[in-house]
Amino acid sequence: MIKYDYGNSDYTIAGSDNGLNISEAFVTYKDRIAEIITDLNKRKDKPGQFLQWMNLGYSEETVWYVKEFAALVENRFDNILVLGIGGSALGGIAITEALLKPYWNFLSKEQRNGLPKIFFLDNIDPDSISGLLDILDLKKTLVNVITKSGDTTETMAQFMIVKDRLEQVLGDNYRRNIVATTDKRTGILRQIAEQEGYKTFVVPDDVGGRFSVFSAVGLLPLALVGIDIDEIINGIKDMDLALKNTDINQNIAAQNALIHYLLDVRKGKNISVMMPYSSKLRYFSDWYAHLWAESLGKQYDNDNNVVNVGSTPIKALGVTDQYSQLQLYNEGPNNKIITFIRVENFDTVVEIPKIFEYTGIGYLGGKTINDLMNAEADSTKVSLTDYKRPSVTVTLPKIDGYHVAQLMYMFEVQTAIAGALYNIDTFNQPGVEQAKNYTYALMGRAGYEDSAQNFRSKISV
Ligand code: PA5
Repeated sequence: MIKYDYGNSDYTIAGSDNGLNISEAFVTYKDRIAEIITDLNKRKDKPGQFLQWMNLGYSEETVWYVKEFAALVENRFDNILVLGIGGSALGGIAITEALLKPYWNFLSKEQRNGLPKIFFLDNIDPDSISGLLDILDLKKTLVNVITKSGDTTETMAQFMIVKDRLEQVLGDNYRRNIVATTDKRTGILRQIAEQEGYKTFVVPDDVGGRFSVFSAVGLLPLALVGIDIDEIINGIKDMDLALKNTDINQNIAAQNALIHYLLDVRKGKNISVMMPYSSKLRYFSDWYAHLWAESLGKQYDNDNNVVNVGSTPIKALGVTDQYSQLQLYNEGPNNKIITFIRVENFDTVVEIPKIFEYTGIGYLGGKTINDLMNAEADSTKVSLTDYKRPSVTVTLPKIDGYHVAQLMYMFEVQTAIAGALYNIDTFNQPGVEQAKNYTYALMGRAGYEDSAQNFRSKISV
């Protein structure tokens, strides 16, 4: 199992102005936390609660269909192209980056064991879209278009471009190169998929985008590039079992949720820095930033009071950002909690050769890059502590499907518990609607004429 250590957020180490009396907090919040965990588990099967993500580890049917399809298309495609945005892309990006061999798309077919390359288009930058379409052989590309709502502007615009290009190169056979992941019944993509006869997968009811990584949204792209999804499922299940424990002393997601919440409301640490010491986990931070920001940043609480709460996620990468952001973290405003993600055993051990022994860098010779990476994580953590900056550490024994799934599921549960502590709706995102409405208005979607007028009255340039 992954390990969690909160010691450097305790007042005995971080000081009483910036750290918490954690054992006292656990006693004070013991009942509240037990109540929240019990409530989440009680409500998770009820429609309309948006808690179905807690059941995804047990969805044997999805796993079966995903594996069946992956086996069916094995060896047919050289590329997988995923179209999606937000929760429809970030989980897949995070896990493929973590679990595939580094520089996967640069490896030869033999080095990839015949498995396809994978590309995610999660933006609508015209240059990157056309650049990618210029290099992909679309005849050998399987396009997985993913959108739960079925009408997300960016995803559907990409899809319209890609579908048109597919048709140009494949004629009537283009449908065989498309698989759509969307709502079971509703939405424009569902309607198109049925009319056109695409193979489809379902985003289950009551699973929001940022909690959908373990549905077909994430599992299908993973299976298509040969990632062992059983390992992932086992990781979720074991973590789910551990996190059903209502005792805060035994539940690491509850501990981390409470520590983040209290450091925010009591000590003004309203910025949450995610800093994995692993390049493979670089995009885990993007996924986390979406999950944490969109779930917790809310104007109203559940009693309709204006609260404007939330903790701002920041993405950092160890050690790279020691040379970019650490100065601010140590000496700037003391308003952050840093989460270190550590890896005990990397897949490879890289030795630093014993050369230049006569110079000041000679001390590095004979050590490993692995030692250096972990020494840097420890040094950064202790230097933050010297400046009285609180931090927590999550340690993965290694980067594999089992532990990465545990990590992500832990943060999903942590987010749900934090949302309950803030007394907000963790699963909605009303704050992103207005910008979408203005975009519809600017692009001439029928029914958004008022938004267009409203927009014109407020734009300054
Ligand atoms: O978390 C969410 O629900 C959102 O961020 C969605 O993932 C995002 O808006 C994309 O939505 P859709 O899958 O409907 O295209």
